[in-house]
Amino acid sequence: MDIKRNNLQIKRTLQQQILDVLPVIFDFVLLLIQIFYYTAEAIFRKIVPASLAPLKEELVLVTGAGHGIGRELAIKYASEGAAVILWDINEKGNEETAKLIVNNGCRKPYTYTCDVSNRKNVLEVANKVKEEVGDVTILVNNAGIMPTHPLEKHTEQEIRKIMDINVLAHFWTLEAFLPAMKANNHGHIVALSSIAGVVGIPNLVPYSASKFAVRGYMEALTDELNWNSYNQIKTTVICPFMVNTGLCKKPFVKFENMLNLLEPKDVAEKIVLAQRSGIAECTIPNYLLTVNNFTRLLTPKVAQKVKTFFESGVHSDL
Ligand SMILES: NC(=O)c1ccc[n+]([C@@H]2O[C@H](COP(=O)([O-])OP(=O)(O)OC[C@H]3O[C@@H](n4cnc5c(N)ncnc54)[C@H](O)[C@@H]3O)[C@@H](O)[C@H]2O)c1
Repeated sequence: MDIKRNNLQIKRTLQQQILDVLPVIFDFVLLLIQIFYYTAEAIFRKIVPASLAPLKEELVLVTGAGHGIGRELAIKYASEGAAVILWDINEKGNEETAKLIVNNGCRKPYTYTCDVSNRKNVLEVANKVKEEVGDVTILVNNAGIMPTHPLEKHTEQEIRKIMDINVLAHFWTLEAFLPAMKANNHGHIVALSSIAGVVGIPNLVPYSASKFAVRGYMEALTDELNWNSYNQIKTTVICPFMVNTGLCKKPFVKFENMLNLLEPKDVAEKIVLAQRSGIAECTIPNYLLTVNNFTRLLTPKVAQKVKTFFESGVHSDL
């Protein structure tokens, strides 16, 4: 009798264990199918690119629009038919960008002078934008600075300024514009990181930290939006190699034919293309992300050697 009861008990525990493990097996099989599906989709999309998101109904805000990549981004978005809002701390530069857009025969952009590192200023100017223009649907966090010298030569004030402009400013513009995007479940957030946010670069220790931070918060934000079913708010983080805007003061490049300084107009075109294609993260040029992902699989010493082989970077600006 006891043996029979014992056998029944064992049978029940076995059944229970199988029942416990079934959902895990189900999840795992589902994961394998998803891995296969999304890999196939990525390969397919390399051959047949996705159709580009239209821009005509969009209201694009570009920070740091008074010079360099920001200026070219504003010109590109305006030429594609979007309504454009230009923000810069430099009023003159901003007005010059606006003039270039109008001279191109595009809609007159809206210009605002704003220090993006100042939360109060950002929220005030954002309220003006909402009253005078409307809800921003594409936010491009582009403004940035790049002091370039050895770590011990960076002052406390400078390090704080790098973080304030390159990272914290993004949180203030998100605070201002994300709620409307959420209310409409529609929008796109674009953030400028850098190749210095993919690999650490000497003479750019605080800058690299700020650009890694941009990639980090953008990844977390993307997941948070998806978790909360804001599936029509897209994100794109861009990591360009060095660009010929003057920001990068003393660049050096080993293989000039293969990897030379990029032109801001080309970079802006690639950024708009990435945003309209819904790409979550890319480097410019594209292959640098693949090279980085691959070398990170190898030992740290090998990764270091690959980095040394490319030998590009910046000299101190002091
Ligand atoms: N130039 C490069 O080599 C390079 C490479 C990778 C990434 N990036 C990133 O691209 C972005 C644009 O760089 P860029 O080369 O066009 O720089 P840039 O210096 O040519 O232009 C930056 C613009 O931002 C504005 N700005 C600076 N501080 C501001 C503030 N507090 N509030 C509002 N506006 C402010 C400036 O007035 C300027 O008009 C930056 O985030 C930079 O880190 C640049």
